[in-house]
Amino acid sequence: MRIVSGIQPTGNLHLGNYLGAIRNWVRMQDEVAEKGGQSLYFLADLHAISMPFVPSELAANTREMVAALVACGIDPQRSILFNQAQVPAHAELEWLLTGTARMGWLNRMTQFKDKSGKNREGASIALFTYPVLQAADVLLYQATHVPVGEDQKQHLELARDIAQKFNNDFGNGAEIFTLPEPIIPPEAARIMSLRDGSAKMSKSDPSDMSRINLTDDVDTIMQKVRRARTDPAPLPSDPAELAERPEAANLVGIYGAVTGWTPAEVLAQFGGEGFGVFKPALGELLASHLAPINARFVELRRDRGALDAILRDGAEKARALAAPTLEAAYAALGLLRG
Ligand code: TYM
Repeated sequence: MRIVSGIQPTGNLHLGNYLGAIRNWVRMQDEVAEKGGQSLYFLADLHAISMPFVPSELAANTREMVAALVACGIDPQRSILFNQAQVPAHAELEWLLTGTARMGWLNRMTQFKDKSGKNREGASIALFTYPVLQAADVLLYQATHVPVGEDQKQHLELARDIAQKFNNDFGNGAEIFTLPEPIIPPEAARIMSLRDGSAKMSKSDPSDMSRINLTDDVDTIMQKVRRARTDPAPLPSDPAELAERPEAANLVGIYGAVTGWTPAEVLAQFGGEGFGVFKPALGELLASHLAPINARFVELRRDRGALDAILRDGAEKARALAAPTLEAAYAALGLLRG
């Protein structure tokens, strides 16, 4: 078993990242360590340059994200934690894979359509080829499982398509790349915005009220939950009745994801109650769950030297693991390496 996953160091870690992905990273890190496998988690700083960004903020955000991941329970002794920019094999393999990825496959990617919007011609080439770098991220390490939120599923299907075509076209009967499986938590696959039940919770939403950041203090969390958009009806007792109420469904889903309860179990406790009762209960639950993470984060982020050392050590291990697959890919393509 080899687990690989990444996160963009653009802004704060939010509840969607945490419940949709990072909590699973921590679980799988522990599981895989017991089985003698390996987990690699990285900051996707090379992906972050696909959209407008400020270089000095990127460096600071990369360090902050390392502190946040360690605060959430990623243990640099047990997982390999690094940033892409210190492992050039990611960018190298990406180029090799661009010979295999097809224009038609990338044209179907919804992220490019969403992020480029009406400005397709002005979008960066990196935004278009982004999923090929993502494929390189996981194929480079022969990842077997990739813990992600639902929004990354299409990118992982593309990684499988690229791996399969590369193996077929250039493998000469050998499996150069392992086909990775996405691991998506059913209870938190898609945490939605607090302001709009039809949009996912996201770092790029201009309104900070739309998300709970892992760095928010208790008062901020309580205020954001209190002001979350909802409809006026009380909570139903039957989960089926949440189907037409996306904002209510999201808050019930968040409560369930944190406690480990199904929506039916949440409604068994809160069905018939108004949001005047449910929201403070949810706010307190989140605040108490996030408080220890927040405290560790504040402590860790102070020590820039320690954060840089984590990334340096992680990158060294990652480079060693990446080397054989990168060489195999060069060789399969007939590229001479001396
Ligand atoms: P990113 O940085 O947008 O998000 C990191 C992880 O958080 C998950 N996530 C969510 N899950 C549930 N509800 C939400 N509202 C929510 N928002 C974010 C994402 O699914 C993701 O798992 N392209 C990736 C980074 C990446 C990557 C990779 C991931 C680069 N290379 C290789 C896996 C494997 C991204 O931008 O995630």
